[in-house]
Amino acid sequence: MILRCDIVTLFPDLVLPVLGQSMLKRAQEKGLLEARVLNLRDYTLDRHQVADDAPYGGGAGMVMKAEPIFRAVDALRADYGEAMRVLMPSPQGRPFTQQVAEELSVERRRLVFVCGHYEGIDERVRTGLEPEEISIGDYVMTGGELPALVMVDATVRLIPGVLGHPESALAESFADSLLDFPQYTRPAEVRGLAVPDVLVSGNHEAVRRWRRKEALRNTWLKRPDLLRDRLLSDEDRRLLDEVMQERANVCDVSGGGRLS
Ligand SMILES: C[S@@+](CC[C@H](N)C(=O)[O-])C[C@H]1O[C@@H](n2cnc3c(N)ncnc32)[C@H](O)[C@@H]1O
Repeated sequence: MILRCDIVTLFPDLVLPVLGQSMLKRAQEKGLLEARVLNLRDYTLDRHQVADDAPYGGGAGMVMKAEPIFRAVDALRADYGEAMRVLMPSPQGRPFTQQVAEELSVERRRLVFVCGHYEGIDERVRTGLEPEEISIGDYVMTGGELPALVMVDATVRLIPGVLGHPESALAESFADSLLDFPQYTRPAEVRGLAVPDVLVSGNHEAVRRWRRKEALRNTWLKRPDLLRDRLLSDEDRRLLDEVMQERANVCDVSGGGRLS
């Protein structure tokens, strides 16, 4: 099933080049993604195509007007009906995570991103459209275009058929609430640094076990919060014990990951 993404923006040129490259381009060529960019100026009501104005109450900056956004979303609703999901990138939204990307990739496959800019969007868009506000992190960006592209990218690559190797998405960081294992490529030695022997051993079971152990090590050292409250299989428990033991052997375990 095709994923349809519409990006409603005042700055189409910020979005279009990214949609025309790499995996997003391939997904469109394969008919798995239909991406459209709606220029808010086309939905303005005056001949100067004004889409922003000064804030009521005074203060710096400009605020995006509500009516052009309502009109753009009305036009999409006329195409899609109620099946579409309206998302509003916002630093005030719920955090965007791999889980949210998975959700977007399987549920209601018509996503509309309403991108803010300047000081933000007239609040009546939020109360009138009741979009889902989603944040890509606790920092403030200039506009919603890059956050929308982040979400489209992370979502599209989960659609079956988009990635050349579907198993890649299954093995990556967060797919299993673990960070990914380290990757290596040729040559076998770079500036005196060798690739781990096990990866050139040809022993598939040993490679699988090594990768699992290194994924656990990465997670324990870099994001121990992901392991908290997680039920580990017997094998994972054993591998993690080995990781902790190895760490204890090389240092006093004063820094680094702890489970609690
Ligand atoms: C400069 S910001 C406005 C911030 C707004 N005044 C506030 O403090 O909540 C302009 C636009 O960038 C987007 N944006 C900024 N930071 C974001 C984030 N962390 N996640 C998602 N969108 C963001 C939103 O679309 C927002 O309307």
